[in-house]
Amino acid sequence: MKQNYQFPDHSAERMRTGSVRRVNFELGEDLRGLGEGKTFYIRTYGCQANVRDSETLAGMFGMMGFIPVSSPEEADVSVFNTCAVRRAAEDHVLGEIGSLKPLKTAHPEKIFAVCGCMAQEESMVKLIASRYPQVDLLFGTHNLDRFPVLLARALAGERTIEVNSDGAGSIVEGMPVQRSRGFKAYVNIMYGCDKFCTYCIVPYTRGKERSRQMDDVIAEIRAAKAAGAKEVTLLGQNVNAYGKDIGLSDGFTDLLRSAAETGIDRIRFYTSHPRDYREETIDVMKEYPNVMPALHLPVQSGSDEILKRMNRGYTIGQYYDLWERMKEKIPGITFTTDLIVGFPSETDEQFQKTLDLADRCRFDSAFTFVYSPREGTPAASMPDDVPAEVKKERLAALNEKIGFYARQNNEAAVGTVLKVLCDGPSKKDPAVLCGYSEENRLVNFTGEGVTEGDIADVKITQARSFSLLGETLR
Ligand code: SAH
Ligand code: SF4
Ligand code: F3S
Repeated sequence: MKQNYQFPDHSAERMRTGSVRRVNFELGEDLRGLGEGKTFYIRTYGCQANVRDSETLAGMFGMMGFIPVSSPEEADVSVFNTCAVRRAAEDHVLGEIGSLKPLKTAHPEKIFAVCGCMAQEESMVKLIASRYPQVDLLFGTHNLDRFPVLLARALAGERTIEVNSDGAGSIVEGMPVQRSRGFKAYVNIMYGCDKFCTYCIVPYTRGKERSRQMDDVIAEIRAAKAAGAKEVTLLGQNVNAYGKDIGLSDGFTDLLRSAAETGIDRIRFYTSHPRDYREETIDVMKEYPNVMPALHLPVQSGSDEILKRMNRGYTIGQYYDLWERMKEKIPGITFTTDLIVGFPSETDEQFQKTLDLADRCRFDSAFTFVYSPREGTPAASMPDDVPAEVKKERLAALNEKIGFYARQNNEAAVGTVLKVLCDGPSKKDPAVLCGYSEENRLVNFTGEGVTEGDIADVKITQARSFSLLGETLR
């Protein structure tokens, strides 16, 4: 077995320094025909960073001549692009790769690869290497550009593990991309995260915060637009910090403005962090109609004490203030958030503050999570003393509140006309179309002559908790 491990040292990570290398991707001549007559399948877990990485992998497969298929049963090579953010996410992946064993026994020539954030975790890599012999190839988030070389080794029968901590980090430009939907383009503006929220594994699995050059980002947006994209989503774990590491003083505002000036129909960005939000960014959102009036602004908790122990770097007062200014300046803006319940030692009173926050901000929706200890993070060594039963009750109470306001906000949209970018037929009913409004509301609708990638005017007729129903205007 060829092994090359270099795991991040969790305790030393905060000290990481050094300059970021910008390198160009190249596919060796010898690898171009590797996929001739072969098929591939990719299963993606986790966040948009992984979705975008999978699109890069699909681009590489395409360059090597592989053809996509829709299951590991059909594929010669299957890749599982994993997430480590919570224990449940990891358990789910382990269950799925565990169930590949009979397929591998029946077809030893099939290749199974595991990549993504779990592959940056020492304990996970060791577990998979020792207990999951059906996995032929493991590579980390910093080794994405090495995939063709590593795959060639695996296809030659060599079990391969390559994980790099890449302390200073690098940025690889020029990697191919096969977007899952051409009319919606994800564009990375930065990689990694330096926020080190005490509960979170992402700064370790994704490495140092490093921004792409603005020209590289804008060139990718222009190329996506020329290829038919209607919507671009700028991606980073903390987009408001864009450019700090490359000496830009208000990089995100400038980038957002330049992106808007490409004239693409819709621009979104994900994820924002309350700590780095600038007034000028709000002004650009207001000024350019193609910057969508929807903000995902994770708050995590309504208690200042908990926020402090999470190392979030803002108070609830500051969050409310930002929320108020956004609502005031950008009429009709929708607000969504992320919330964690059951952080170590969270009291009933502290949890009540999260419920109060939900009452005050009336979010359009929220992702709610039970705190999950992550090995090597500072919170993992705080006593996880909130009983499981209490965590469950808190989650249910919070979800009820979030659902209440989500529905109330959706009901207020009944009778209005929203511009919906059509994603195609809905999963549940092929006779119904679905898509997202400018405010990022999910709309299921009927209408003649609308196909995926079209932007349609849809009259809203009915509200559900997390979606709207409507019909196109004739
Ligand atoms: N960079 C983004 C989010 C990345 S992770 C941000 O800062 O907002 C997505 C969400 O997962 C986080 O917002 C948080 O709510 C949740 N999360 C992260 N680590 C977690 C943990 N250990 N337990 C429970 N939820 C967690
Ligand atoms: Fe994790 Fe915090 Fe970074 Fe978001 S900002 S990825 S929650 S460390
Ligand atoms: Fe998961 Fe990694 Fe994203 S841990 S949430 S896939 S950055």
